[in-house]
Amino acid sequence: MTAHASALFAPGLFKGRVVAVTGGGSGINLGIADTLASLGADVAICGRTASRLEAAAEKLRAHGGRVLPVVADVRDFGAQTAFLAEVEATFGPVSTLVCGAAGNFLAPAEKLSSNGFRTVIEIDLIGSFNSTRAAFDQLRQTRGNIVYVSAGQGFMPYAFQAHAGAAKAGIEQMMRNLALEWGPYGIRVNSVAPGPIADTEGLLRLANPAELERFVRAIPLQRLGEVGEIGQAVAFLASPLSAYITGTQIVCDGGQNLAGSGLLNHSVGKMLASAAATGEPSHG
Ligand code: COA
Ligand code: NAP
Repeated sequence: MTAHASALFAPGLFKGRVVAVTGGGSGINLGIADTLASLGADVAICGRTASRLEAAAEKLRAHGGRVLPVVADVRDFGAQTAFLAEVEATFGPVSTLVCGAAGNFLAPAEKLSSNGFRTVIEIDLIGSFNSTRAAFDQLRQTRGNIVYVSAGQGFMPYAFQAHAGAAKAGIEQMMRNLALEWGPYGIRVNSVAPGPIADTEGLLRLANPAELERFVRAIPLQRLGEVGEIGQAVAFLASPLSAYITGTQIVCDGGQNLAGSGLLNHSVGKMLASAAATGEPSHG
């Protein structure tokens, strides 16, 4: 296990800074919230499930800082406006917004309904815009920054991921547009694209457990990532360490993209085919 960020970055690097993380109740986004809380930030998290958010907040409070869990769906612009207003009223204006809320599943495009495609676009892409738009006035005051949690699907095609690929590619291009447009306000906008991260819902949903070992061996660094490693990349992008960096994506995947998506397509294709037992094309 890699060292905790609190041992790698200057202690208190985020002291006095207010961070809002969408989808911060679990997985990678909770890992990001944890890293920033461990470095002194006041952290607000939102999601759809109150019990999950409360449990996450309890964990984050162990770092000694202030934590605000708020039930708010990213698809609902009014709810995001209310979330960001509550953050400001509780802690002051936000200095870092992390957009991590997402939904995903494996689905062959020819079987995916229009509503299934739309749902992922609404959570990932429109949801990220909603939170961003709701945070703009505060980010302008703080000359703050935004970090989007993207994915390899946004720059490399994966089978059964037309919906997520379109959503994440949209986020990447929005990131670059906003970096251009909001640079004059002093707002930096970047993204992190995690690779396969251990013990996460995303990995559970997208990998074939029967072939995980083979998949991991094909990753140049020969292992899955850890949520804390995504937190470290976000801490860099959210801090003054990256003061002159905007419009950039950090790919944090152990080099997985260098080997392409073929092996994953092959293994999840077999998994879907055996689940459906249809004998249809399986990329296998
Ligand atoms: N395969 C194909 N279509 C699917 C699907 C699957 N596995 N899961 C959901 N859908 C479709 C539904 O059938 C529905 O379309 P329809 O009305 O045409 O039938 C549409 O997607 C919406 O589904 P619904 O369950 O109403 O959406 P929701 O808003 O309650 O939940 C999801 C959103 C589907 C993305 C859900 O998986 C979720 O909440 N995910 C969050 C956690 C997550 O995905 N984590 C991993 C992040 S990488
Ligand atoms: P996760 O634990 O399921 O995280 C997604 C979070 O988003 C959950 O806490 C979920 O909580 C919340 N969420 C979902 N829909 C929402 C909505 N409409 N409004 C508000 N919150 C919502 O999965 P994860 O694997 O850690 O993924 C986190 C991020 O990393 C995602 O952006 C994902 O695309 C990205 N990523 C993951 C991997 C991986 O290996 N896991 C790889 C690449 C990229 P509720 O359901 O309670 O709302």
